[in-house]
Parts: sequence; C-alpha cells; structure tokens
Amino acid sequence: MTIAEKDVQEKSDHLLPLRVSTVDQMIEASGLERGSTLLLSGGCGSGKTIFAMQSAYNAALNGERTLYLTIEESNEKIKRHMKNSFNWDIDSLEKKGMMAVKEINSIEFLSSLENCMKEAEIKQAIYGDINITPAQLFIFGKTIDLPFKPDRIIVDSISALAAMFKDKDHYRLFLKALVDTLNKNNSLNILINETEHEPILYNKLGVEEFLVDGVIGLYNIRKGELRRRAIEVVKLRSSDHTKEMVPYTIGRDGIRILRGERVY
Ligand SMILES: Nc1ncnc2c1ncn2[C@@H]1O[C@H](COP(=O)(O)OP(=O)(O)OP(=O)(O)O)[C@@H](O)[C@H]1O
Ligand SMILES: [Mg+2]
Repeated sequence: MTIAEKDVQEKSDHLLPLRVSTVDQMIEASGLERGSTLLLSGGCGSGKTIFAMQSAYNAALNGERTLYLTIEESNEKIKRHMKNSFNWDIDSLEKKGMMAVKEINSIEFLSSLENCMKEAEIKQAIYGDINITPAQLFIFGKTIDLPFKPDRIIVDSISALAAMFKDKDHYRLFLKALVDTLNKNNSLNILINETEHEPILYNKLGVEEFLVDGVIGLYNIRKGELRRRAIEVVKLRSSDHTKEMVPYTIGRDGIRILRGERVY
C-alpha cells in the first residue's frame, strides 16, 4: 500500500458518512469522526427516527454495523413502520448481524436513577466500575450485551429521559456521562432529541448542544398556511459545513434532501 492509499484508508476508517440522501455533501469532510456524538434535533414528526434508521440501513449496505436503542417506541413497531413505509427490512439486517434494535425501558431506568441522584452516584450508575468486554456496552446503568462491535450507536430518544430529571444539573451530568461513554466505543453516535418545530431553540434545556460534537436540526417551517421541511447542520466541531437550511421531503424512499433548492 502506498502512503497516499494508506491516507485514504485511514481517513475512511476515521470518518463515517451519515449516508442519508445528500446530507454528507453538506459536510466538508463528507462524514463525521468515529468517537464523536451528533445530536439530531427536531419537532415531533419531523423525521428523526426515519433519518436515523435510513442512516443505519444504508450503513449496513456498506458493511457498517448499528446498535439502535429505542426508548420511546417499541422495537417491533419501529421495524414494522420502516418495512411498510420504505421497505427497509430491519429484521433481515438483524439476522445478518448488521443491526441490533434494542428497547430500553425508561421507567426501569428512571426508577434505578431515583435512588442515586447524588453526583457521585449518578457517575457510578452511568460509568459503572465493572470490567466490560468489547462485546458489551455499559449504558443507562446497566450492561447491554452486543452482538457485534458497533460502528454506529443511535439513542432514540434522550427527550423522554430529560423530562424525568427535576434538576437541570443532574441531567447535564447524566448527558455528559452518556456522551463520554458512547464516545469511548470509537463509533459514530447519534442522540435523538425532540424540540420545537421551528429553529428557535435546539433543545428545551439548552445543555445538549454544548456537550455534543455536532448538531443537525430537522425543521418544519411554517409560512402562512404552508409548512416545509428543512434540514440544517447547526454545528460541527470536526469540519466546515453548509450554513443554509436545505429543504427535504419524506417519501417512499425515505428522506430526500433537495440540494440546491430554497426552503421558500
Ligand atoms: N411512507 C411515508 N411517506 C411519506 N411520509 C411519511 C411516510 N411515513 C412516515 N412519513 C412522515 O414521517 C413522519 C414521521 O417520521 P418520524 O417517525 O421519523 O418522526 P420523528 O421525528 O421521529 O417523530 P417523533 O418525535 O414523534 O418520534 C410522519 O409525520 C409523516 O409525515
Ligand atoms: Mg421518532
């Protein structure tokens, strides 16, 4: 292998494209760094789950493995919607060992947190002190057995958890620990966060966007009686990126970004 070939190889090992329509063309580096966390923010029904599943599905076609943790919706229901709407057969990807969709019970998780609301105890609950193997992930205070070492970890979504923290500082601490834990996996991590429809605030508490390496917003912008979907790369620590909002649609092939078009 020549030095130039090695550079290309190392770059692709180091960077992972999102693989959703033309979103990677909005990022100068054409991908995001492994060991970093992206916040995917948007209003309800803006397409966050579809974006994340499309990313995982296309990643699988390129040999990258995804762990998808669902907190709000049942995994069977998400998989059924993806199959019926877009013909993405997640069950078959799971059978091939390219994807794993796991449900996290937020009530169980929160009841375990209720008893450890002190700073040190939260750290303990999140980081753990056990020796985990590469085939395990210690997250949300418990160890999850992984069927593979994931290239991508998606958490859908952190909003349900945020609402349960009465103290903003505890939530911030929790989120910092979560991001640190995920980044240790050398995977590209995507945290889904529910916000308002319009791009006024990226989150309700104002802490999430500072703790992550990148933020992408999915909006549903109203003008008169019309609403139009738009995507924006709000921040990225690792690369320059498009500054404009770009319109997108959701159709039979999932999210399609209308590059070169204006929102209104
Ligand atoms: N087959 C389809 N064709 C066109 N649009 C669709 C199709 N299936 C779903 N949608 C659109 O996608 C939206 C739901 O997308 P998704 O579930 O990804 O949103 P979300 O941002 O995750 O929402 P929530 O905050 O409720 O979890 C629907 O409101 C609908 O407008
Ligand atoms: Mg969703």
